[in-house]
Amino acid sequence: MKIAIFGAGGVGGTLGTVWAAKGHEIFFGVPNPTSEKTQTLLSKIDSNVQAGTVAQASGFSDVIVLATPWAATESAIKAAGNLSGKTILDCTNPLKPDFSALTMGFTTSGGEQVAQWAVGANVVKTLNQTGYENMSDPVYGGQATVMFACGDNENAKATALTLVSDLGFDAVDAGGLEMARLLEPLAMLWISLAYRQGLGRNTAFALMRR
Ligand SMILES: NC(=O)c1ccc[n+]([C@@H]2O[C@H](COP(=O)([O-])OP(=O)(O)OC[C@H]3O[C@@H](n4cnc5c(N)ncnc54)[C@H](OP(=O)(O)O)[C@@H]3O)[C@@H](O)[C@H]2O)c1
Repeated sequence: MKIAIFGAGGVGGTLGTVWAAKGHEIFFGVPNPTSEKTQTLLSKIDSNVQAGTVAQASGFSDVIVLATPWAATESAIKAAGNLSGKTILDCTNPLKPDFSALTMGFTTSGGEQVAQWAVGANVVKTLNQTGYENMSDPVYGGQATVMFACGDNENAKATALTLVSDLGFDAVDAGGLEMARLLEPLAMLWISLAYRQGLGRNTAFALMRR
């Protein structure tokens, strides 16, 4: 799959690295594609990868992954141009700058806000609920940890679930995009457990079944 990733930090860099190794073609859209940081990442990934503006990345891709700080997400989307019909995996969390809480919730969500900004795109909220280290290593003692995805377009959600499964997660359909109102607080719970409760970042949620 041709995947544009807006942002090449902890989340974007990790996802691009793993998906490129699985044969997907990655195009990072970043503010400064020639920066040392971006070039170092490209050289580590080696093949199936390039970097440019968000508009260039979007033009190249079947799927767009949002891995930008919340404060930069609207401008990244606007700079990408026409996103009508695109599948967007929204990994962002609408956090306060100090990560202490979400800036919205209960009656709306960051995912739904992204869908309003990205007019005509099919937004799926996913890969926001755990730390980026788990995105490259989601299996704990033989148990695949869970990653929920929610969105209103079934084809886009199927694509997202495939990409999430490619990472090794137990990929679970959590319903329509409105469920982002629950998946973003789930991310906040993970952050709180990792930092305030001292469990650390080597922590992940699993879904048990019988
Ligand atoms: N960290 C986690 O474990 C984690 C887990 C799940 C979800 N999330 C969410 O995922 C998002 C990214 O988190 P992160 O930890 O990966 O952040 P990060 O390490 O700070 O990386 C952010 C990336 O976005 C780029 N960026 C900034 N403004 C941009 C713009 N206008 N257009 C395109 N790219 C832009 C940055 O480029 P420059 O460095 O050049 O500014 C950087 O490459 C956040 O919304 C976060 O809440 C994070």
